[in-house]
Amino acid sequence: MARTKLVVGNWKMYGVGSDIAEIEAIAASAKKFPQVETGLCVPATLIERAVRAVPGFPIGAQDVHFAEKGAHTGCVATAMLVDAGATMAIVGHSERRDAQRETDDEVRQKASAALDAGLLTILCVGESLTVREAGDAVPNVERQLDSSLPRGIDVSKLALAYEPIWAIGTGRTATAADIGEMHSALRRRLRAAYGDAGDEIRILYGGSVKPMNAAEIFSVKDVDGALVGGASLKAADFVPIIEAAA
Ligand code: G3H
Repeated sequence: MARTKLVVGNWKMYGVGSDIAEIEAIAASAKKFPQVETGLCVPATLIERAVRAVPGFPIGAQDVHFAEKGAHTGCVATAMLVDAGATMAIVGHSERRDAQRETDDEVRQKASAALDAGLLTILCVGESLTVREAGDAVPNVERQLDSSLPRGIDVSKLALAYEPIWAIGTGRTATAADIGEMHSALRRRLRAAYGDAGDEIRILYGGSVKPMNAAEIFSVKDVDGALVGGASLKAADFVPIIEAAA
């Protein structure tokens, strides 16, 4: 089935008020490719200003808390993100699974909370280099997916991002064959979990996506877009990636 390509930038811990001009430049150029869905997940402090600067262009968060509210110092609830104008969120990024010790169970609860709030929810999975070199990447990521997937909830706004950890910010990308093998395996798991609805969930690739490799990555079967880190910070890099998906 035809799925609209989704290309999302993850600004990680980069971006202050003076970078709004870059967000405006990205949003203006993205309009030239209406066949591609795009957006930027910026630091929480920038969400409201970005939403005001680029009305109609999707702005999202990089994490959510699963609780509605409560004594969770430093955390941000989905209702607060929606209140700030966010329309999407990343959950389970490997940098959080690692540094914040987020478990699959927490990621699953975060995905449920984000979907419940109506956010386009990008759930990340991916293997370490040790696992890849041991030849265990596919079963490992399948297991991670199975225990991170939300259940009993409308998944029409769910997307996945397959991000091999060893490819993030390293300039190393997985081969087209490895990406294809993993995305097909994830598609099968999504169908097993959600039936026909699993066919509509977009599976993005993430890990050193750049203007020069984007077209090749997007040509792989079952790659429905990208989650882009470093190359999403500047319009000059990010726009050609959007164009490659068009
Ligand atoms: O969320 C984005 C990924 O971690 C990829 O980051 O494009 O800088 O490798 P990168």
